[in-house]
Amino acid sequence: MAQRAKLKTSARISRSNAQMTCTLNDAQVFKTLETLHGNARSDWLPMLKYAPQAIWGLLRGQSMMKALTPEMLKDAYIPVSPEQGRYLYSMAVSTNARRIVEFGSSFGIGTIYLAAAAKDTGGHVITTEIEPNKCAATQENLDRAGLGKYATMRKGDALETLQDVDPDVDLVFLDGWKDLYNGVLDVLLPKLKSGAIVIGDNINLSEGKEYFARVSASNSGFITTALNRNTSISVFVDQQGEPS
Ligand SMILES: C[S@@+](CC[C@H](N)C(=O)[O-])C[C@H]1O[C@@H](n2cnc3c(N)ncnc32)[C@H](O)[C@@H]1O
Repeated sequence: MAQRAKLKTSARISRSNAQMTCTLNDAQVFKTLETLHGNARSDWLPMLKYAPQAIWGLLRGQSMMKALTPEMLKDAYIPVSPEQGRYLYSMAVSTNARRIVEFGSSFGIGTIYLAAAAKDTGGHVITTEIEPNKCAATQENLDRAGLGKYATMRKGDALETLQDVDPDVDLVFLDGWKDLYNGVLDVLLPKLKSGAIVIGDNINLSEGKEYFARVSASNSGFITTALNRNTSISVFVDQQGEPS
């Protein structure tokens, strides 16, 4: 309730004298997110089922991403937290992001935050997911939130489904399997607008660290900051080469 009251007080964001509606405060969006975050609290159940396999894989030196496949976690939400979701919304709205891409929708929680932002900026989200049940759930949940027309669900492997994304992408959220972050970034790199923002989740996991090292390098074309142990934000400055 306290959270609801807090959100309501900021129902309108003032922007250079004009006022914009904050779709995160729409009752349908709020209720859908509340329900989905609540459902995600049972994630431990599907996770527990594969814990022995994951531990065995880790003991054999496999990374978490190899030990646990998307198929194993097809019933787990593994979503962004409400705080991360509000951060995604804020970044997208404050940068007026219109072309937004998400890698890994799962059940669509992050997608709803991004689609709410897209509604408020006049933009659109392309999201992608490899597990068929999660693709269907993402679409259902977007529709339930009343945001279906602000996002397009692309079913399949992100390395394929994001190939023909239109240029001038403003914001990318990387949240699929971490060993694919670099590959997905390669696919999207030619499509990034100068000044685009790339947010990477779970940079603390081993493959996440590889991605973080790449976008942090001085000749990477990005200015990158770790927001915390988990999340990085990179601005595409498109100037490869060592600083002069
Ligand atoms: C951490 S979850 C995403 C959570 C989601 N962003 C949210 O906030 O609810 C990662 C998702 O990436 C999906 N995934 C893994 N490999 C993929 C691939 N190659 N292409 C598309 N999706 C993939 C998994 O099935 C999983 O649902």
